[in-house]
Amino acid sequence: MRCFLALAAILLSHQVSALNVLDLSSQKWTVASQSLNISARGQVPSHVHLDLFAAGIIGDPYYGLNDFNLRFIAWSDWNYTSKISSLLLTDSTNTFLLFNGLDTFANITVCGQYVASTNNQFRQYYINVTDILSACNASSPELNLEFASSPAAANAIAAQPGQETWPWNVQNVFEFSHREFIRKEQSDFGWDWGPGFAPSGIWQKAWVIQLDSDEVYVRNSIFDLYREGQLNNLPPDQEANWVLNASIDVINTVPDGARMKYRVVDTATRKQVSSGDLVNVTNSGDVITGAAILDKSSYKLWWPVGLGEQTLYNITVEVLSAENKTIASVKKRTGFRTIVLNLGEITDEQTAQGIAPGNNWHFEINGHEFYAKGSNFIPPDVFWPRVTPKRIRQLFDAVVDGNQNMLRVWASGAYSPDFMYDLADEMGILLWSEFEYGDALYPVDPDFLENSRQEAVYQVRRINHHPSVALWAGGNELENLELYLVNASAPDQYLRYKDEYETLFINTLLPAVYGNSRSITYIPSSTTNGYMSLNFSDPIPIKQRYNNKVPGSIYGDTDHYSYAVDQAFNISTYPIGRFANEFGYHSMPSVSSFRTVMAEDELTFNSTTILLRNKHYPSKSLNTTNFANSTLGMGEMTRAVQAWYPTPANISDPAANLSAWALATQIFQADFYKTQIQLYRAGSGRPERQLGSLYWQLEDQWQAPTWAGIEYEGRWKVLHTTAKDIYQPVIVAPVWNVSSGVLDVYAVSDLWTEVRGRVELGWVDWSGNVLPNVSTGGGGGGAKSFEFVVGGLNSTVLTSVNVGALAGGDNGTDAATSRFNASNALFVANITATGTPVNTNATRTYTHTNYFTPTPLSKAALVDPGLTVEYDRTTDEFVVTASKGTSIWTWLQLSLDDDAVVANFDDNSFLLRRGEEKRVKYKVLSGGSEGWQGRVTVRSIWDFTQSS
Ligand SMILES: *[C@@H]1O[C@H](CO)[C@@H](O)[C@H](O)[C@H]1NC(C)=O
Ligand SMILES: *[C@@H]1O[C@H](CO)[C@@H](O)[C@H](O)[C@H]1NC(C)=O
Ligand SMILES: *[C@@H]1O[C@H](CO)[C@@H](O)[C@H](O)[C@H]1NC(C)=O
Ligand SMILES: *[C@@H]1O[C@H](CO)[C@@H](O)[C@H](O)[C@H]1NC(C)=O
Ligand SMILES: *[C@@H]1O[C@H](CO)[C@@H](O)[C@H](O)[C@H]1NC(C)=O
Repeated sequence: MRCFLALAAILLSHQVSALNVLDLSSQKWTVASQSLNISARGQVPSHVHLDLFAAGIIGDPYYGLNDFNLRFIAWSDWNYTSKISSLLLTDSTNTFLLFNGLDTFANITVCGQYVASTNNQFRQYYINVTDILSACNASSPELNLEFASSPAAANAIAAQPGQETWPWNVQNVFEFSHREFIRKEQSDFGWDWGPGFAPSGIWQKAWVIQLDSDEVYVRNSIFDLYREGQLNNLPPDQEANWVLNASIDVINTVPDGARMKYRVVDTATRKQVSSGDLVNVTNSGDVITGAAILDKSSYKLWWPVGLGEQTLYNITVEVLSAENKTIASVKKRTGFRTIVLNLGEITDEQTAQGIAPGNNWHFEINGHEFYAKGSNFIPPDVFWPRVTPKRIRQLFDAVVDGNQNMLRVWASGAYSPDFMYDLADEMGILLWSEFEYGDALYPVDPDFLENSRQEAVYQVRRINHHPSVALWAGGNELENLELYLVNASAPDQYLRYKDEYETLFINTLLPAVYGNSRSITYIPSSTTNGYMSLNFSDPIPIKQRYNNKVPGSIYGDTDHYSYAVDQAFNISTYPIGRFANEFGYHSMPSVSSFRTVMAEDELTFNSTTILLRNKHYPSKSLNTTNFANSTLGMGEMTRAVQAWYPTPANISDPAANLSAWALATQIFQADFYKTQIQLYRAGSGRPERQLGSLYWQLEDQWQAPTWAGIEYEGRWKVLHTTAKDIYQPVIVAPVWNVSSGVLDVYAVSDLWTEVRGRVELGWVDWSGNVLPNVSTGGGGGGAKSFEFVVGGLNSTVLTSVNVGALAGGDNGTDAATSRFNASNALFVANITATGTPVNTNATRTYTHTNYFTPTPLSKAALVDPGLTVEYDRTTDEFVVTASKGTSIWTWLQLSLDDDAVVANFDDNSFLLRRGEEKRVKYKVLSGGSEGWQGRVTVRSIWDFTQSS
């Protein structure tokens, strides 16, 4: 009876099939461990750690050394139990459980009866429990999910007889071992920037679905928009019409004779643009697929931020029965764009333009090459259930403010939630997406492969409609690191492991992409030399190049980490490739960040808590006594600062001392990245035709020394502001060759059309005096100003200065007038240029200032620049001046008493010349503290020479 009424109500209001969908988040849950004698209120979605924290049973997992202290949670099994109320209990109803994500090893029972086991965090599971429920007498049957400890499960799998093993040193181990055997977020077992909590729980939404036999429930779907004739990995014909291919996965059975129709609505105008039937419908019962041609002239293109508008359309696809009854309806918001990672051979035309032979490695949006500027996104929290759209929007605001247009969503975290792709679609951020494998080789037994295949198919279908999806990559650092390591430690077994690599990352994952989508490129590894051949008449179209290189040719993208600090600014140690997808160095977060998770007496550079939150060491060599000076971890940061900058002099207040050191490590980090990004961007006009730079890493997942540019609370480190400056569309970039001593000053533009402007070049000393006679290149001495032109998506050398000869200081051959004291000189370049932003008609003026110092700042004759900062209430800006000298790494900072306020300055870490005034705006992200603006201070590199 109750059933009949419910069905009638739904039929009347929606005119679609009747069904009972029970959201399991609305039910009462208990989380418990018998052996630990713990029982608490549970949540869905959630993780055990979060529920125990909310119940007051444990403290904040991020506090202090809780990543070690709370290991017992990861080593325990946990029950999530609920009595399901509001079920329909009729004979004609079939009942299913639907889980969008279980983390990870769950045994599921209903009414005490076993129904299923799961072993993949990234798969969707649906289970028919009709028979069990009908045999169960309870009106509110009990649903139980018993989660096994994932570290224990991983160990058990690894110990199975005949299980795969790998040569020494190939598998990267952090806090827990054997992550490669399980399909769980790999960084849950620890990483070099994050803790190992190995959480478990129902981490995604879950439902009970009840259907009559003629009803279906849509559990997943894919809309694929591509140009007619388009093939994965190949640039399509931009004049072709669009194809909409829609495919819907259902629970229950779509009846024979079902039809499909579609309509497209412009989300801005709210007008319907087109509608019609889908043709070529195929129906396997649980998947129905159809296609339509959409006229190219009816749709505006979607572009990434900075390259045009983000036009979005809602597409609705309906499934109708032979009797014209709507059986299912799916609406997805999407955009019309093509994005291809072009790995094709360098063409004759490109060679004629001076591009080195080899292969391309760049993205093309709607048929245009562009420069990809951005960073690597890691899981923004260990505990995904507490990652909110607000948090992602805040990060994405920083991405857009930071002049970035692409994020590499790193493999070995988790597939990103739909809301993240939705925000990226709206904000124009391209998301290079990856399957969750990294820094290890993986088993290839049939169960593992099938599990991996199902995961890939589900995820490809779930997100494919988002125009922000830029790429699918198989995993992190597999070809350049893992295969390399195998070859190094067991060369005789290289071919066997390479075969296994191909079995998973080419033969299994590639068909999961190609078989579901034609709009997206697939590469097996984040860093790769690309393919030798791509032939769509072969069952597996790609043959990888690996190290099969022709001398003199350039292939692939690059990954660069070096902790040899003395070489940090030697550009000849940087890789020359077509695209830089990872590079970096770690730094300390702010004291305010540390303060949220540790006691005041731990706030010193090498305190136990800080040492143990630095994960840049192999866990097996964990030995706290000689950490500080070890070649890894904290020692790397200390030595980098000592090598290049005046070290913060003794500051008696410990927090102030830590704050100064934290800033110094951040300056080295930013300086190192900036030098690389400048070279990579200048490469757009050099033979390597370098077209992308994504640094490691955008943001933190907790409060620790890491490679991040944005701290966990949202504060920008020096890196994020420095990257914002150097990622502007038109920049001037001094590139210094340590070996030749020559400084090449480039103008770089990633606009698509020519930029014209004027450059001013000159030398000043630390007191701010112009050095009138010192050469700025091109003959003669002294400051210069001249016109320049730089082509679209290109770079040009404005001047070359032989700094080595200038700084020589002996009675050399150079004119005496062009020599100088290297410790008291900075080269400053400033450009003002006019260009047309991509896909607009209006012209815009671009200005940029940059500098170069010919000695390490540790050896520079720094003077007090006389910095002041005032808060201007009327304009709500900070006004910064330098009255006495030249200030670099000028840094506005909130008082340590205001660490409840999270605020970022629009401009920071800048150059200020004597007499110059800079007005700086800001954004408050959270917190409040009366009058904090009045307590903001400013410092510069000079302050490190002062004690207090
Ligand atoms: C989960 O519940 C079942 C049934 O009550 C029990 O046998 C099992 O020991 C529990 N597991 C844990 C980890 O408490
Ligand atoms: C789940 O079931 C399997 C098979 O019956 C069993 O080996 C495993 O121990 C169970 N896991 C838990 C956490 O009870
Ligand atoms: C679910 O189980 C019921 C009872 O065994 C069966 O009649 C029904 O066909 C099953 N549904 C599906 C989609 O397998
Ligand atoms: C497009 O779909 C979204 C999500 O369902 C909805 O919020 C929005 O109102 C729709 N826009 C139009 C114009 O239909
Ligand atoms: C439908 O199938 C035919 C025959 O294979 C093909 O020529 C046509 O392009 C298909 N139509 C669409 C919209 O995919």
